[in-house]
Amino acid sequence: MFPYKSSILLNRKAHRNLYLQLCDQIIKHIKSGKLPPATRLPGTRTLANDLQIHRKTVIAAYDELIAQGWIETLPSRGTYVNRMLPIVNPADFDHENSKQKTTTISSFSFSKRPNLMYSSVSFDDSPKIQIDDGSPDHRLAPIEELSKTYRNIAKKSYHQNLFAYGSTYGNLDLRKKLVKYLNQTRGLNISLDNILITRGSQMGIYLASQLLFNKRDTVVVGNTNYLTANYTFEEAGATIAHIPVDDQGIDTNAMEALCKKTKAKAIYVTSHHHHPTTVTLSAERRMHLLQLAKQYGFAIIEDDYDYDFHYSNAPILPLASNDNYGNVIYIGGFTKIIAPAMRIGYLIAPKDFIDEASNMRRIIDRQGDMVLEKTMAQLIKAGDIQRHTSKVLKIYKSRRDLFCSLLKERLSNYFEFEVPKGGLAVWVTLNNKYNWDDVVAKAGSLKLELNPEWRRYDPNNLKHNSIRMGFASLNEEEIYKTIIILEKVCAQL
Ligand SMILES: Cc1ncc(COP(=O)(O)O)c(C=O)c1O
Repeated sequence: MFPYKSSILLNRKAHRNLYLQLCDQIIKHIKSGKLPPATRLPGTRTLANDLQIHRKTVIAAYDELIAQGWIETLPSRGTYVNRMLPIVNPADFDHENSKQKTTTISSFSFSKRPNLMYSSVSFDDSPKIQIDDGSPDHRLAPIEELSKTYRNIAKKSYHQNLFAYGSTYGNLDLRKKLVKYLNQTRGLNISLDNILITRGSQMGIYLASQLLFNKRDTVVVGNTNYLTANYTFEEAGATIAHIPVDDQGIDTNAMEALCKKTKAKAIYVTSHHHHPTTVTLSAERRMHLLQLAKQYGFAIIEDDYDYDFHYSNAPILPLASNDNYGNVIYIGGFTKIIAPAMRIGYLIAPKDFIDEASNMRRIIDRQGDMVLEKTMAQLIKAGDIQRHTSKVLKIYKSRRDLFCSLLKERLSNYFEFEVPKGGLAVWVTLNNKYNWDDVVAKAGSLKLELNPEWRRYDPNNLKHNSIRMGFASLNEEEIYKTIIILEKVCAQL
């Protein structure tokens, strides 16, 4: 007889209903082979008595298990584990090993991507300060306006179609609002045909790469570049060619020299604030690049991921605003303005490319969150996004100023940097006498998490000894704490 009393442990304080806990445990024992098919289960009174629970709880659990097909009632004979279930040999079932086998090792082959195995997200939730790559402060997100608008839209019966399958191009209302908004704020000259809503800039980069590149097509990127974009291009089959980056952004003369020798399919630029070094592509180079794109027929993938954050002067208009010949694929979104989890972005390009991108999108993510997209459209219409952008711009500017002035004042023997004109991070160079591994390890022991994968900023071994330090996600108190910890770290180097 199976030892129900000792094998079934119910927790009266748990949120899960008692009868469902009982179901879970019986299913677990059936799956493990400890209760094989055709095993007679105890009567409801007996089991209730053994487990010290109400008989109705056992009846409810048995009803549920019958409905799910785990057990069956045979008239005037009792309740049994379903005889049709496959037999599992309990001798094979060593709980620990089997758990490891099923959760960690697949029994089928698949291609691994060792390149993609970096993550800057820490799963350790002990209290600490994290210096990120240049993320916004999600604590500032306009949750109140967002959730109120989202709820209002979702509740209205005439919006019910937003819950059905919709257009792969994205919510029409948002596309219309964005056409107007982007034409007004970024000097673009687009119509509805030129815009596809994505889940964020990364989806735009992915879609563009999948459409642009065939095996061994060349994509040109700065040395050094936003590594995730490089991975996305390589994944699409492209071969990466590097050109230098200096204090005016990517070197367009080097691009011209490269075009004379090699057929470049595309160049990827983060023109407003080069990732990772934060410099802005100069006006002269912008014009040069557009002229080269026309002459050599390559695409410019312009990733304008942090357009809104420019502190010294108005944001510089994107290359896309001067694209008269259909060379630019423009990518942007709201994840930096509102919060990384707000997965709404856009891809702007000539109509033929947008149509293909929309077909491609269908096979990876049928469509976006239509209610969220409609919410965004209303927030733009009401001016909430614009108000929020001005608000966070002021906050981030004062955080940049505080972070940079403290770093300069207290740690200039160790770190060098230019105050960034925009963006959410500083490109910080550690004095060559020291090593980031030491800094990262010592900071970690003082509960300051610096990006442990700092090497990704130098995949080609340029030995610039620099990393990005995000300031925007830290409030004033956290910035002071960060600097105090860094002082302690540096004193130990
Ligand atoms: C240069 C660059 N492009 C694209 C992205 C991805 O942005 P999103 O979260 O909108 O997909 C990031 C994210 O940090 C980025 O730094």
